[in-house]
Amino acid sequence: MHSSFGRMFFYFIGGGSVSKIQLVNITKIFKTKENDVHAVRKASLHIEEKDIFGVIGFSGAGKSTLIRCINLLERPTEGEVVIDGKNLMDLSARDLRAERKKIGMIFQHFNLMRSRTVAQNIAFPLKGSGLSKEQINKKVDELLELVELKDKKKAYPSQLSGGQKQRVAIARALANDPSILLCDEATSALDPQTTQSILALLKNLNEKLKITIVIITHEMAVVKAICNKVAIMEDGNIVEEGNIIDIFTKPKSEVTRTFINTTTSIHQIYELIEKNDPLVDLDVDETMLRLVYSSSNTKEALMTYLVKTYDVSFNIIFGNVEVLANSPLGNLVVKLKGEKANIESAITYIKGQGVGVEVLK
Ligand SMILES: Nc1ncnc2c1ncn2[C@@H]1O[C@H](COP(=O)(O)OP(=O)(O)OP(=O)(O)O)[C@@H](O)[C@H]1O
Ligand SMILES: [Mg+2]
Repeated sequence: MHSSFGRMFFYFIGGGSVSKIQLVNITKIFKTKENDVHAVRKASLHIEEKDIFGVIGFSGAGKSTLIRCINLLERPTEGEVVIDGKNLMDLSARDLRAERKKIGMIFQHFNLMRSRTVAQNIAFPLKGSGLSKEQINKKVDELLELVELKDKKKAYPSQLSGGQKQRVAIARALANDPSILLCDEATSALDPQTTQSILALLKNLNEKLKITIVIITHEMAVVKAICNKVAIMEDGNIVEEGNIIDIFTKPKSEVTRTFINTTTSIHQIYELIEKNDPLVDLDVDETMLRLVYSSSNTKEALMTYLVKTYDVSFNIIFGNVEVLANSPLGNLVVKLKGEKANIESAITYIKGQGVGVEVLK
C-alpha cells in the first residue's frame, strides 16, 4: 500500500500534467517452441486525459501487443501499466476486473456474438452489474442513440454492414461507461467513406463523453483525421512520439517520414528526383528544399523576409495546406536561388523559425 501510494505521487508529479495512461518500460516476450519473440521492447508512453492517441507502425511492429498491455489482456514481461495513478500490475484479480471495466476495446473484425441481437450484444457487458432489466434496456437505448443505430436494435450481426457492426461494437464497449477506449485497427476492414464516419463518431465520443481514446493503425490518414498525438513503432520499439503537428513538421526517424509521405502527394516529388526528371532540374545556384510549417501566416512573412535579407529568390514547385488537429499544416517544395553562403544563411534562418526543412537536392 505504502509503495503504491508513493508511486502514485511520483507519477502525478513526474508527468507534469494528469496522466491517464502511463506505460513504463514495457517489454513483452512471447516464448514459442522455436524461439523467444520480443514483441515490445522497453516501450514507454504517456497518454493524457481526453487525448486521441494514435500508435502507428507496419505489420508486426508490436502495436496490438502494446495496446493489449494497457488492459492487461497481455501481461507485460516487464514494466508498469499505470491507469489513473494505479499500477494495474499490482492489483488482485478482483481489483483488476473492476479497473478493466473502465477500459473499453474494439477490434478490426468487430467480435460480435452472431447468435445474439444487437441489443443483446450491447447488454452483454452489463451482466452481473446489478442493473434491472428495465435499466439495462434503457442503457441499451441510450447507447444505440449515441452510435446512431436505434433502428437496428433487434437485428442480428449478419444483417448489418461493416460500419454498423463497428457501431454495435462501440456501443458494447461503452456499456460500462469506460473512461478509456482502445481501438485496434477499428477501421481497417471498412471502406474509406465508412472509415470516415466511424472516425467522426469516435471524435464525437471523445468530445461528448470526455473519453480518452487510443487508436492502433497502419494508416497515417487515420492518425491525421483524428489524433492529437501519435507514437510510431518499429520492431517493438517506440521510435518517436509527440503531438501530431510536431511529428508532421519535424519527423526524426525514417519510418515516420515514410508514413507521413503516404498521406501527401509529395512522394511524387521524390519520384521525380529519383528519376532525374527535367521538372526538378536545378541551376548551379539553386537548391531544392521541402518546407513543412504549421502556422498559416508563417509562409508569406518568411518568404518576404528571406528575399529581403538574404538576396535569394524562390520558385515554388509544389504546395499544399491541410488542417491537422485544428491547425493548418503546409508542405512546400521550393527552388531557392542565390549565392551559396546566402542560401545556407537562409536555411539556418528558416530552421530557427520552427519550420521543418529538408534539403532535397
Ligand atoms: N501470442 C503470440 N505468440 C507469439 N508471438 C506473438 C504472439 N502475438 C504476437 N506475436 C508476435 O509479436 C510480434 C508483434 O505482433 P503484433 O500483433 O503486436 O504486431 P502488430 O504491430 O499489431 O501487427 P499487425 O499490424 O499485423 O496487426 C510479431 O512478430 C508477432 O508474430
Ligand atoms: Mg495488430
